[in-house]
Amino acid sequence: MKLIVPTEIIEGEKRVSITPDCVPSLKKMGFNVFVQKDAGINSSYTDDDYKKSGAKIVNKLSELYKNADLVIKIQRPIKKNKVNEYSFLKKCNLLTLLYEQKFKSEFNFLKKLNVNVFALEKMPRISRAQSMDVLSSQSNLSGYKAVIDAASQFNKAFPLMMTSAGTVAPAKVLVIGAGVAGLQAIATAKRLGAVVSSFDVRSSTKEQVESLGAKFIEVKGEDSGETAAGYAKEMSKSYKKKQNSLLEESIKKMDIVITTALIPGKPAPRLISKKMVESMKVGSIIVDIASEFGGNCELTKHGEMVNHKSVKIIGPTNLAATVAQDSSRLFSKNVINFLMNSCESGKFKNFNWEDEVVKETCVLKNFK
Ligand code: NAI
Repeated sequence: MKLIVPTEIIEGEKRVSITPDCVPSLKKMGFNVFVQKDAGINSSYTDDDYKKSGAKIVNKLSELYKNADLVIKIQRPIKKNKVNEYSFLKKCNLLTLLYEQKFKSEFNFLKKLNVNVFALEKMPRISRAQSMDVLSSQSNLSGYKAVIDAASQFNKAFPLMMTSAGTVAPAKVLVIGAGVAGLQAIATAKRLGAVVSSFDVRSSTKEQVESLGAKFIEVKGEDSGETAAGYAKEMSKSYKKKQNSLLEESIKKMDIVITTALIPGKPAPRLISKKMVESMKVGSIIVDIASEFGGNCELTKHGEMVNHKSVKIIGPTNLAATVAQDSSRLFSKNVINFLMNSCESGKFKNFNWEDEVVKETCVLKNFK
């Protein structure tokens, strides 16, 4: 079985899909691992690291893809400059983040090929699949990095400091959406010494928020806000009204707001209006992690930092890629766990097509 690791070519993507520490496990599973020259260098993994762990380095793309059984990528294949990634995909299995609803033309290119495609963002939210969940592993690091980025833009300190020259008040941080990214943002802001509050439509998050030492802002008297699959649902008009006035009240006291609210398959809910931004203190920072899906703030511009009346609104593009060494390692582990799931007596022969995680993630199936 030939497993290949191409260099990611989408702009700003510094991660690599398989890291050297995972190569020995893949070899045990029966894979020969081939890595494109310098594929890991942007995430601080050298060709020597891969060679030492038992992978082979390949320079030419045509050679890398030749007879590949499994192609592991982080980002969907694209055409860029002289490289047409689709042209290399012969009969093989492709594991990648795909988002076929958003990137329809890329998906249409894949449909014309003889490939099986596994869209890793479709991993079901069942406990058995937690260790295979790339959205969780990457969101976790994004939540952390959003707070670090906010701190570096903020012109005040985070912790309370009592000095002989006077007292520095702690920063006040609001985290909207207490899912994977949000909970890590809360934990990071707390570690830096901020006073943190948080808000989520899923009432089940109250306990998690409070266990991290943050205050939960609650919209009282409504349903749980959660679907059977564990995701948030779109809330009623009356809920949104109550939520809006609670947010209006809280936001003007905040220094930093980190927004992470998402509803699967829908645009990100608009929670922070221009009016709310204008009520914030001069020098406040908003980091809108939901920016890729339309943003939680009315003024967010994806990939930009907007300065609106001295409030900075950051719309980050790929936060996980800014901590590429760790995010690549976790992504790689998720992939290994996904493949392990189909190993009988320790060896990988083929995907277990009856398995729920295989069925849910496989969006194109051309051969067995
Ligand atoms: P997500 O990225 O889809 O959404 C982020 C957060 O935004 C969620 O907590 C959601 O409730 C919240 N949200 C949505 N609309 C909102 C609004 N209008 N106002 C405020 N907040 C709003 O969710 P994520 O982070 O991927 O996961 C949510 C939960 O799912 C996790 O906390 C975890 O418990 C569970 N999960 C389970 C997995 C498994 O069992 N394999 C894997 C991943 C997550």
